[in-house]
Amino acid sequence: MTNLQATAAAMVAPGRGILAADESVATASKRLEAAGVASTPESRRAYREMLLTTPGLSESVSGVILFDETLRQSTSDGTPFPDYLHDHGMLPGIKVDTGAKPLAGHPGETVTEGLDGLRERVAEYVGLGAAFAKWRAVISISVGDGRPSRACTAANAHALARYAALCQEGGLVPIVEPEVLIDGDHTIEVCEAVTTDVLREVFAALAEQGVDLEAIVLKPSMVVPGKGSGQTALVTEVATATLRCLRASVPAAVPGIAFLSGGQGPEMATAHLHAMNRLGPQPWELTFSYGRALQDPALAAWAGDGGTVAESGQAALRHRARCNSAARSGTWTVAMETPEEGDVG
Ligand code: G3H
Repeated sequence: MTNLQATAAAMVAPGRGILAADESVATASKRLEAAGVASTPESRRAYREMLLTTPGLSESVSGVILFDETLRQSTSDGTPFPDYLHDHGMLPGIKVDTGAKPLAGHPGETVTEGLDGLRERVAEYVGLGAAFAKWRAVISISVGDGRPSRACTAANAHALARYAALCQEGGLVPIVEPEVLIDGDHTIEVCEAVTTDVLREVFAALAEQGVDLEAIVLKPSMVVPGKGSGQTALVTEVATATLRCLRASVPAAVPGIAFLSGGQGPEMATAHLHAMNRLGPQPWELTFSYGRALQDPALAAWAGDGGTVAESGQAALRHRARCNSAARSGTWTVAMETPEEGDVG
């Protein structure tokens, strides 16, 4: 096993998942301000410190994805965040794309940018202690408008594959994230067809670029009905459709699949992961790499205390991380969501 393959296996090790805390300054500011906290480099640092220093977090979290600003920041006692994570049994990751930009000639579609200078940035991030990277491609569905177009799927798959190859060359495990957005009025059947097509295109591009599939982590969206579709899907239907889609498109060489939450509520994201892990062994580990579904309750609790008391936010984060850890082995129960007072600590 190569070092990168060992790192990828550690990222998706049983019982653990990934905390996505890599919001750009613009997104982090939007979320902090919506919670009533002014966004400054210091408030963003303090918020991330609250998350990362949650006691016991490493029992259910294998790694944390950071934004460039955070990777260069430190805890209040001066320990750089990447060092803090390594010292506490968690791997630091870094978002390396520079965002989804309008795709020329294709209104409503985007291609994710960030390949220029990536080799040099990867080298710098390795020097700062990063162990893995993330790149998010965004695919939107609008059946009436012919979205996603072939051009959009192909451009994003190609960029993801070139990013992954550059990361592996430089010593980072790439998280390959093709997100099919929940926004739209499409049915779950359309979501399944589009997601299958996108994943097949991504794996064809990864093969073409010579990417080692045993040294990546796939971060897909789940197969769900569009938010505006009016369709409701049972938890078991989402689990069955998502696994059918993944079995049709993801090679068994991939060590693990770490889902994004993509606008699902925290408990729903946990319930879906749990249901998938109840459906029997799969070729890959099935885990979480949630952003909002892990952070939202923690941000609300922390901001509710004026952003000065770490413990309330940390209890909320620890609780969600534990619930998702249980979902990894299919042992989560609804009763876990209403813990006895004091049981969240
Ligand atoms: O790129 C998106 C994040 O890493 C995952 O965020 O779980 O809120 O969709 P989310």
